[in-house]
Amino acid sequence: MNEPVRVGVVGLGTVGSGVVRLLVDSADHITRHAGRKIVVERAVCRDVEKDRGLPLAADRISSDIHDISRDPSISVAVLLVGGLEPARSMMIDLLEHGKDVVTANKALLAEHGPELFELARRKGRSIAFEPAVAGGIPIVAAISECLAANRIESIRGILNGTSNFILSTMEEDAADYAETLARAQAEGYAEADPAMDVDGTDATQKLAILAHLAFGVWVPWGDIPRTGIEEIDLDLIRFAGELGYRIRLIAVARRADDRLAMRVAPALVKIGTPLAETHGAYNAVSIIGDAVGRMFFHGLGAGQMPTASAVVADIIDTVVGRTAITFRTTGVLDADSPAARIGPADIEERSFLRFRVADKPGVLAQITGILGEHGISIASVIQHDAADAAESGVPLVIMTHACQSQAVQRAVAAIDAAGVTRGKSTCLSVLDDWTPAK
Ligand SMILES: NC(=O)c1ccc[n+]([C@@H]2O[C@H](COP(=O)([O-])OP(=O)(O)OC[C@H]3O[C@@H](n4cnc5c(N)ncnc54)[C@H](OP(=O)(O)O)[C@@H]3O)[C@@H](O)[C@H]2O)c1
Repeated sequence: MNEPVRVGVVGLGTVGSGVVRLLVDSADHITRHAGRKIVVERAVCRDVEKDRGLPLAADRISSDIHDISRDPSISVAVLLVGGLEPARSMMIDLLEHGKDVVTANKALLAEHGPELFELARRKGRSIAFEPAVAGGIPIVAAISECLAANRIESIRGILNGTSNFILSTMEEDAADYAETLARAQAEGYAEADPAMDVDGTDATQKLAILAHLAFGVWVPWGDIPRTGIEEIDLDLIRFAGELGYRIRLIAVARRADDRLAMRVAPALVKIGTPLAETHGAYNAVSIIGDAVGRMFFHGLGAGQMPTASAVVADIIDTVVGRTAITFRTTGVLDADSPAARIGPADIEERSFLRFRVADKPGVLAQITGILGEHGISIASVIQHDAADAAESGVPLVIMTHACQSQAVQRAVAAIDAAGVTRGKSTCLSVLDDWTPAK
């Protein structure tokens, strides 16, 4: 049997603790796959006094990254500290000292990926990051290795478990947004500060990484149009349901001539299709490749053990040398990757519009008139009777036929400006094209 591989774990929070447990509890199984034992030599966290109940002697835990980076017996370091700093400095220190790194930190990669990967290449080291994108779903390996023969045409996915938990629970429990967010926090599905999950930042950072892998371009995540779920209310979910749809936070990247059409926004997906049937904290990714056709991946995108599953798989890949080969041959997160040209913003699609209007004659005609002036034709209208009336107005819901998305935005702005609506109107895309790939 080969010498054991010694691993350093930086961060002993949710994921780090899961990784230590998995490496210890499944040691025999992991040894079989790696061809040698993988042992946790050291771990680093902030609070060394805290009892984490881990199968790791107290003298193996410290608060100094140098205890891992400068230990020559450690060849692989697992970076499970979130945020940009000190995570970035820690990654640089580990690479500078010759460690191969595995990380789950998507914010760090989306922000500083090319710089860090360039350093790793210079040092002859690798960075593995499967857990950073969709937790337990092996989407990085799928795109960069298993689907390598394909020209990827599009990626469409639910990449944030917190927002999916909120949207699906609102529908299932007929609960409003604030109540459901509080429940998600109480049950551990949302952070105390959920901003980056519900405003779409987290999904956008993941989409930027996926788009890089799939299309070979570097996408600054801040350039991707993004709308969160904070303004989705129960009425919208109910009206979408009446029309046969569910609302999900969908990340999309697809080829459009020489550009990438990308966005993260709540959208309507047809009930019965895989994205609509993705409930709770699950993630899902649909990919179309020119040779393979449409593929669908579904699983837990976060959580202690699903994420640890991906971290440990990356450690094994690093130990057996697979990561280094992929890293060398695919140019992943290469600083020389061309910048993505994002757009066109104008997409031909159906739209779901919700207006709140005064309950009086002529309003519907005025709204449909403005839509007509912008070349938008209507597929269906829902207007419940005045029993639904509230201070905020009567809801009027319109599903359009496929038309240019920018024309719809202009029409909705014109309707709001015409003074017939109360408050800001809502416009969501309808993602209809779930047809078997040719
Ligand atoms: N949680 C998930 O389900 C999940 C899923 C996919 C990806 N991720 C990513 O994985 C990473 C870790 O997430 P997490 O949920 O495990 O975070 P977490 O529970 O907050 O744990 C972070 C760990 O980092 C340690 N740490 C922070 N600053 C440090 C410093 N200056 N020096 C040493 N240690 C420091 C903390 O030490 P103390 O414990 O002593 O405070 C803690 O152990 C993040 O990038 C996250 O986005 C998480």
